[in-house]
Amino acid sequence: MKAVVYEKYGSPDLLHLAEVEKPTPNDDEILIKVRAVSVNGSDREGLTGKPLYARMGGLLKPSHNILGADIAGRVESVGKNNTEFKPGDEVFGEIPGYHGGFAEYVRTHGKTMALKPAGLTFEEAAAIPQAGVIALQGICEKGKVEAGQKVLINGAGGSAGPFAVQLAKLYGAEVTGVDNTNKLDFIHSLGADHVIDYTKENFTTNGRQYDLILDLIAHRSVFSYQRALRPAGSYFFVGGSAIVMFQILLIGPLIKRAAKKNIRILVVPQNRKDLISITQLCEAGKVKPVIDKRFSLNETPEALRYVIDGHAKGKVVIAVQPNGKT
Ligand SMILES: NC(=O)c1ccc[n+]([C@@H]2O[C@H](COP(=O)([O-])OP(=O)(O)OC[C@H]3O[C@@H](n4cnc5c(N)ncnc54)[C@H](OP(=O)(O)O)[C@@H]3O)[C@@H](O)[C@H]2O)c1
Repeated sequence: MKAVVYEKYGSPDLLHLAEVEKPTPNDDEILIKVRAVSVNGSDREGLTGKPLYARMGGLLKPSHNILGADIAGRVESVGKNNTEFKPGDEVFGEIPGYHGGFAEYVRTHGKTMALKPAGLTFEEAAAIPQAGVIALQGICEKGKVEAGQKVLINGAGGSAGPFAVQLAKLYGAEVTGVDNTNKLDFIHSLGADHVIDYTKENFTTNGRQYDLILDLIAHRSVFSYQRALRPAGSYFFVGGSAIVMFQILLIGPLIKRAAKKNIRILVVPQNRKDLISITQLCEAGKVKPVIDKRFSLNETPEALRYVIDGHAKGKVVIAVQPNGKT
């Protein structure tokens, strides 16, 4: 089968289309013929090997050669112990371990997959899993956002950010989105009440405070985040600098005790229940997966370059077709 592979950490130039062995599912797994795969921050990090936690599987070189976590496709075959799916089922979801999706076929146990609703295209379905579940956990499940609260989303214009902005608005919050200059009109168009250009303004020093900060790309000190929180407010680190992550792990509990502010890492479990919940909101038209741009499988390096160069407003999706066309 065809897959986009890489052998070492670095730039999108290191990604290349190759002929690799088609995966064989074991008795518990399913084999999925991929129709679409979307790009997430986890692919950017897995490619560049930055931040450091992206190298957990392989410090010097990637332990898996195929990136791509969020897929939609059709079940090709089913292991004899897997009773949840059957050949021909249209499915979508996030692949455990965040790898394997930039390919014509992928095998997985299927526990993080769900049946694709007929009303969603493969591309729309592939745009939802990781980003949608992060937003659902951050804003609703753990964030428990309520009407009237002030919510800030740092990195609001990327993959997970647009879902988070829409969910926070849905729950009646006053929403501030932070991202680069080119993405501010887009974030406004999602319903955000305020936008902040991270290239011009530091949201932790402008005197404003929030009930919830959902940080998709953290790189400031834990004390900056404490300053930007209202009394009893919560700050969730989703992704960003590994140093900040360790700082939060060490100092977050002390801040909680001293200042009653909740500064913590948001661990987002890959799971079917949340995937179905966020997808139902998409089907109902309450939240929409925003696809900025589509690429074909052999254009995957361009897709990653588009994301890394700061152009992507929402999701970038790769259509995986046998003829290589979108
Ligand atoms: N905690 C968990 O369990 C869990 C699970 C899965 C994934 N993750 C992590 O979740 C994170 C979410 O990423 P995503 O997919 O939404 O990422 P993404 O698509 O790369 O979006 C990040 C956004 O942040 C913007 N940005 C860059 N620097 C910024 C700054 N200094 N201030 C504000 N915004 C900035 C980026 O814009 P530019 O274009 O300007 O760079 C981009 O729009 C990733 O780090 C991933 O590893 C965490």
